Amino acid sequence: MDTVKRYAIVGAGGRHEMYRDAILGEYAAGALLTGVCDNNIGRAQLSATWAREQYGQEIPVYDADHFDVMIRETAPDIVIVTTKDSLHDRYICRAMELGCDVITEKPMTIDAERCNAILEVQRRTGRQLRVTFNYRYSPPRTQVKQLLMNGVVGAIESVDFHWMLDTSHGADYFRRWHRNKENSGGLLVHKATHHFDLVNWWLDAVPETVYGTGRRAFYVPQTARRLGLEHCSERCHNCPESASCPFYLSLKDNAHLRALYLEQEPHDHYYRDRCVFSEAIDIEDSMALAVVYSNGARMSYSLNAFMPWEGYTIAFNGSQGRLEHKCEESVYINADGSVPGALKREGTYIRVYPHFAPAYEEPVWEAIGGHGGGDELLLQDIFDPDANRDDQYGCRADHRQGAWSILTGIAANVSMQRGEPVATRPLAPALR
Ligand SMILES: NC(=O)c1ccc[n+]([C@@H]2O[C@H](COP(=O)([O-])OP(=O)(O)OC[C@H]3O[C@@H](n4cnc5c(N)ncnc54)[C@H](O)[C@@H]3O)[C@@H](O)[C@H]2O)c1
Repeated sequence: MDTVKRYAIVGAGGRHEMYRDAILGEYAAGALLTGVCDNNIGRAQLSATWAREQYGQEIPVYDADHFDVMIRETAPDIVIVTTKDSLHDRYICRAMELGCDVITEKPMTIDAERCNAILEVQRRTGRQLRVTFNYRYSPPRTQVKQLLMNGVVGAIESVDFHWMLDTSHGADYFRRWHRNKENSGGLLVHKATHHFDLVNWWLDAVPETVYGTGRRAFYVPQTARRLGLEHCSERCHNCPESASCPFYLSLKDNAHLRALYLEQEPHDHYYRDRCVFSEAIDIEDSMALAVVYSNGARMSYSLNAFMPWEGYTIAFNGSQGRLEHKCEESVYINADGSVPGALKREGTYIRVYPHFAPAYEEPVWEAIGGHGGGDELLLQDIFDPDANRDDQYGCRADHRQGAWSILTGIAANVSMQRGEPVATRPLAPALR
């Protein structure tokens, strides 16, 4: 690495810690953290305290109203956006306007209007915008990419893809800001942006038409009553049903959750432990889609957020056979200290069924760490790009791939409203 890059982070919640610690720790030789910004100044200060205590560095903090001031005073080359999803566009666009490149967490944004706005600003400013699809970097998923690139089952004609979120991780989306579409776009955007990005990447194609259906089937008041929970509060903290509710989350008993959320509540009144059975939720927990791709392939996809195990099954039906991949992940609650999405090795396989020949199993590539081993490799690719100079599997995603990854979910949201298939391209005229 020849030069030191300057980074500022906006959004000081659970996810920003991974980037902050990478900059201050393993990649400190080539990276400098210039500032941290959040509308909750307590959370920003907590991050600065961590930087001081763990790394001996003083990091200036800024509230959201002073984002421009942070950019002016600390002159970052790159802004890392880790706010809630509905605010990504605001900071992506402003950072590019102010002359910075941007690395944003997924989803790039949550609806067509904001997607077009981002694409327009990127075009006008010419800045680089990178969307961090850590799932691409997970070794078993990279392995599937390689097998398909090698034509192991020929041309892909159709895909059967089914993702399970469990009653730990899946439930967590119904406690937090994700529970409302105005914040997250719903799980078809917030979560499935990963899945649809993987399919776009695996197939080397883009979605053309989407038909979507969905409903909230499980995280509803009736489920609370079925479980005998008659007196649920609006949040877990001090809920009278805490002893009997299988979805009870204690912020006060987990040091990290307590410091990051409970103790910062006075600053913004954001409660991270809202009841998963609340009437106020408006996202779906059970969704099914039919998608047509630019290469003619068809996909049937489902996402259910109340399953007993977490992970996915996918099958690629090709002109020369079928590839089946199943991946079981461990369970987690965001920011409670456990490793999110670590693979359960015994539950993960790749099987190839060639036409007119015996089926065989591919030994699955090793993966250790968060999100199927993807987080570590993603960080290395961001902060030490020489280690993966040729990016042979094309894991690095730009604004265009960020846009295509959300257009399936955005079109599905429109399709659910209209009750008919929706074409993606008219939604994003700026995606030229
Ligand atoms: N790639 C992955 O696997 C992965 C995993 C977790 C989260 N994420 C993404 O990271 C992002 C953050 O998620 P999280 O889990 O850290 O959520 P979080 O709620 O812990 O953090 C969000 C932060 O945004 C801040 N914020 C809210 N309004 C703001 C404003 N107006 N200006 C500045 N900051 C504001 C909040 O105070 C909070 O600190 C999301 O976009 C999420 O999709 C990605």
